[in-house]
Amino acid sequence: MIFLALTITLLFTFVQVGALNNGLALTPPMGWLTWERFRCNVNCTVDPDNCISEKLIKTMADHIVTDGYRDVGYEYVCIDNCWMLPSRDEHGRLVADPDRFPSGMKGLSDYIHGKGLKLGIYEDFGVFTCGKKYPGSEFYLKTDADTFANWGVDLLKFDTCNSNPSDFEYGFPAMEFYLNKTGRPILFSCEWPHGQHGKSNYTAIRNTCNMWRTGIDVQDSWDSVMGVIDVYAEDMENFSQYSGPGGWADPDMLVVGDFGLSYEQERAQFGMWAMFASPLLMSVDLRNIRNESKALLQNKNILAINQDPMGKQATLKMKMLKNSIYVFTRPLTNSRIAVALLNKSDRGTPTSVTIKGSDVGLSNQNGYNVVDGFTAQSMGSFLPTSDIVLNVNPSGIVLFVATPK
Ligand SMILES: *[C@@H]1O[C@H](CO)[C@@H](O)[C@H](O)[C@H]1NC(C)=O
Ligand SMILES: *[C@@H]1O[C@H](CO)[C@@H](O)[C@H](O)[C@H]1NC(C)=O
Ligand SMILES: *[C@@H]1O[C@H](CO)[C@@H](O)[C@H](O)[C@H]1NC(C)=O
Ligand SMILES: *[C@@H]1O[C@H](CO)[C@@H](O)[C@H](O)[C@H]1NC(C)=O
Ligand SMILES: *[C@@H]1O[C@H](CO)[C@@H](O)[C@H](O)[C@H]1NC(C)=O
Ligand SMILES: *[C@@H]1O[C@H](CO)[C@@H](O)[C@H](O)[C@H]1NC(C)=O
Repeated sequence: MIFLALTITLLFTFVQVGALNNGLALTPPMGWLTWERFRCNVNCTVDPDNCISEKLIKTMADHIVTDGYRDVGYEYVCIDNCWMLPSRDEHGRLVADPDRFPSGMKGLSDYIHGKGLKLGIYEDFGVFTCGKKYPGSEFYLKTDADTFANWGVDLLKFDTCNSNPSDFEYGFPAMEFYLNKTGRPILFSCEWPHGQHGKSNYTAIRNTCNMWRTGIDVQDSWDSVMGVIDVYAEDMENFSQYSGPGGWADPDMLVVGDFGLSYEQERAQFGMWAMFASPLLMSVDLRNIRNESKALLQNKNILAINQDPMGKQATLKMKMLKNSIYVFTRPLTNSRIAVALLNKSDRGTPTSVTIKGSDVGLSNQNGYNVVDGFTAQSMGSFLPTSDIVLNVNPSGIVLFVATPK
């Protein structure tokens, strides 16, 4: 209680001036994260190749380098829940499970840094992490921030399980304050606003976090991915307006290359995450990913849309054909416009859709050169009055970029 009172006093002094200014995440962060694919698999006797361990993290880091992911921008190699021992040490510090992390987190971060990559770690703002097996950071914010900095951690994902949502507005800024005081730039990934259900102060969130989770966990299915896209289509409280250099709305991980999505659906997830200026954290087994999924994750044309320095998140422009087609638009640098048509439905056959240039914001009277967002192949030249005819596959996406003449 004394600690909380102190924290509140500190915040009263610092939050008003504390716009997040740690120099990180000027474009959406890219990397890899354990959770969706590897979960809380801690039994390395039974499952040595897939358990949450330094072996798994090092192996993925190796693949990120040798298979070309690092070269296209994937940088943060992130451990989610279940890396620690169930209790703190005698100084109140968190301890990485020594059986699964024999080099310690400092040893692991040295390895990751040696590959030109960065290390991400996970904690929870509450008393326990999700699942209640491991200690959370409540009452230990400063200790944990210092521990992570000493280990050479570069990103902290901070969860909200087993905590009170009304505490977020001082608790997350308090953690950011202590991270800042370590002097080490640590990208702060917040589960706030998720957990407050539509009543979040996005100004405060943007002042505090480099990325913030907008909704429930993504799972390995089209229904789940579409559910996330619906959150962005709805854009509750206009949360799209808060994304930009330094801080990004986070729709959760990419499940491209896992079990649940068809290739069309993988294109749709990847294309939409690019439209949304989302962090791109893969959660996939890079040892045996399908070639087509790997090529998609390394598609430079789509990555360039995602990483556009203006950092504007796409919004829903219109719904067509009895709401089966959603049309999203995103402004890009040099007055370009990215347009995505998504067929929400998983039934039927490809059908042609006709849109007028002006309906999707193509207002330049001299017209536009239009290219496919995935292949950069020319689709032609269009005026605001032109009809653009497109084929959208069921549960598929058509994405194009229009450059004014
Ligand atoms: C792993 O699972 C085996 C078989 O169920 C069990 O005997 C062992 O105690 C488990 N080890 C850990 C560390 O949980
Ligand atoms: C801490 O915050 C100050 C003020 O916003 C900023 O100038 C500085 O770069 C931050 N340092 C780190 C390590 O995040
Ligand atoms: C939201 O947070 C900002 C920055 O911390 C603060 O100035 C503002 O008063 C808050 N708004 C509400 C409605 O609480
Ligand atoms: C969101 O933006 C729209 C259009 O600018 C505006 O009409 C609406 O009031 C805003 N809603 C909220 C909750 O700010
Ligand atoms: C995947 O790519 C590798 C390396 O380019 C190649 O050797 C292999 O044959 C490809 N697999 C399939 C199924 O195309
Ligand atoms: C979208 O999916 C529906 C299935 O409900 C299908 O009938 C339709 O042809 C698809 N639309 C387009 C434009 O592909």
